[in-house]
Amino acid sequence: MSETLLIHGGSVVTPTEVRRADVLVVDGVIAAVGEGLEAPDGTRRLDATGCWVGPGLVDLHTHLREPGGEEAETVESGARAAMCGGYTAVVAMPNTTPSTDCAAVVAQVITLGRATSIDVMPSGAITVGREGTHLAPMAEMAALGVTIFTDDGMGVQDAGLMRRAMEYGRGLGVTLAEHCEDESLAAGGCMNEGALSSSLGLVGRPGIAEEAMVARDLLLAERTGCSLHLLHLSTARSIELLTEARARGVVVTAEVAPHHLTLTEDLCATYDTVYKVHPPLRGADDAAALRLALSDGHLDAVATDHAPHPPQAKDRPFDDAAPGMVGLETALALTIEALGGEAADPRAVFRVLSRTPAAIARLRASDERIGGFSAQGGDLAPGEDANLCVVDVSARPVVDPHRLHSRSKNTPYAGRTLLAGVRHTVARGIAIVIDGEAQR
Ligand code: DOR
Repeated sequence: MSETLLIHGGSVVTPTEVRRADVLVVDGVIAAVGEGLEAPDGTRRLDATGCWVGPGLVDLHTHLREPGGEEAETVESGARAAMCGGYTAVVAMPNTTPSTDCAAVVAQVITLGRATSIDVMPSGAITVGREGTHLAPMAEMAALGVTIFTDDGMGVQDAGLMRRAMEYGRGLGVTLAEHCEDESLAAGGCMNEGALSSSLGLVGRPGIAEEAMVARDLLLAERTGCSLHLLHLSTARSIELLTEARARGVVVTAEVAPHHLTLTEDLCATYDTVYKVHPPLRGADDAAALRLALSDGHLDAVATDHAPHPPQAKDRPFDDAAPGMVGLETALALTIEALGGEAADPRAVFRVLSRTPAAIARLRASDERIGGFSAQGGDLAPGEDANLCVVDVSARPVVDPHRLHSRSKNTPYAGRTLLAGVRHTVARGIAIVIDGEAQR
């Protein structure tokens, strides 16, 4: 049911400027943006004093676990966590059970997504069952609106198969997103390889496992002309490879996860499995290089890699525990932190968390959107679909795992004071989070 909303007293963040303005939303679209707007009787007023008002956040990398992993998360619970984190659209990863590798499962996830308050776009697997041996029917998934294909959780190990996937992908006009880890170098490892892993007696996953696949895929993308997206990059050398390839004209985008920007491998010395993730937390030099690359635009997007796991998957020895951490409800504040904290430029924050990810997922107003998804990552202009995120930059919430909306609580940030909070989220013109509280 649509409503009329007036978001008043905040600073509107467009791609080019930050200015004091109210936003009037009528029938699901932005009707007016300006100072001192009048609103008709019956308008719901949302106070944005001291807040940034920007486009709703778009996550390129969310594990929603449904079908098959409902103990960890469902589309519904993940969407609720997302909206509380300021997101109005997420791309669901295909490592479900069964895998999202055909039209039937894609259609199931789309249907489950439509019952939530935000846009849930499934990604499709590149290979059948994500097993890395046979190409999945990408065309039938693309026909339902899938624009991103990935075997995430695992990279496509066979270079010849990846080349063929890119050849098909180019023809379909979709993007192939790679989890870059060469298993012949990484298999069996559970943290970053180095002096620390040796002293802890844990087998490492070396940075070169990532870099070797980054280099391979950049060459394949150059050869095939397919659009390539590199998932959760974690090393300085990966950024160098990316930058060199871009300079040669390779069509490539890349994301970084909040945990690789803000956490380092020394945390693994606690043997607390909440710090186990693939690719692993690296050293301080890598994290600093990632923050620099995010600020200077070499990295395009921050994506959560929200990876919920139930306690029995995490409460195990470090080498045996499931990798991954939840992230939807902390990503915004951690991105602000990585972009300079109180000095962060709000235009950069919304660029890396909304506008560029929306463009990568082809969810912008100018994209041909199949599947009924609304337009995301907008410029805050009249006529746009009203997907909005209102950020309270003076809030200092402390992360309490038990207050997360995700069904899983495996956050590595328990007890951390965050540099911002989500005050309101508006999706398709409906206020779904008001004063930090989910409305539905
Ligand atoms: O740590 C991770 N967990 N990395 C991935 O790529 C997959 C994810 C998961 O699905 O749990």
